[in-house]
Amino acid sequence: MSQEKMFQRDEPNVITESTRIKMRELAGRYPNPRSALLPMLHLVQAEQDEVTTEGIAACAQELEITQAEVTAVATFYTMYKHSPVGKHHIGVCINTLCGLLGGDAVYERVAERLGATHNGPSADGNFWLERIECQAACTHAPVMTVDWEFMDDVTPQSAVDVIDKLAAGEEVWSTRGPMIRDFQATEHTLAMAEDDLATIGNCVDEKMLAGLKIAKSGAQQS
Ligand code: FES
Repeated sequence: MSQEKMFQRDEPNVITESTRIKMRELAGRYPNPRSALLPMLHLVQAEQDEVTTEGIAACAQELEITQAEVTAVATFYTMYKHSPVGKHHIGVCINTLCGLLGGDAVYERVAERLGATHNGPSADGNFWLERIECQAACTHAPVMTVDWEFMDDVTPQSAVDVIDKLAAGEEVWSTRGPMIRDFQATEHTLAMAEDDLATIGNCVDEKMLAGLKIAKSGAQQS
């Protein structure tokens, strides 16, 4: 039995007029309105938890392009999903540095905990698991993302602890960013970023600046 059939999904929300207004606002930000397609697709996910055919049709209508053109973009980029993601998107980096420092083991434990496989829902439908590529966060490898917020220096146990807390509805904070909300809230931020969340947390630390300091001191000596 496929994982999608192990639980009942609710019907996606319909695209509301308020989302349509935001789509038009996004389109008005660019000299060529079709440049707004990427944030508009995030807006669709904020409303529907996935990119549905209705969402594709809405983008096409607002941008006066074809549904085929929207579909081409929505199926090219992996951040756009075509099944409901659920409450939280979980990414585990398995690229070189994270993999060498334990990312593969983290992925295996998280997959086992969720009952999920790559790019698919958990057994209860509340999470979506994805092996992700380098997030340019190698300083704190191995990294996991929850709704695209970083969890640095994870171990198999600490990663599962985060999942358990989220499943229990407990408060979870990114190790260098804001409190975890949910996938759809993050998708809204990706579409319309004016929420000041980027200023929350300690985005840069001594470990991240170490290479820069060594490079600067070497330049002064030469
Ligand atoms: S290899 Fe994982 S963040 Fe770079």
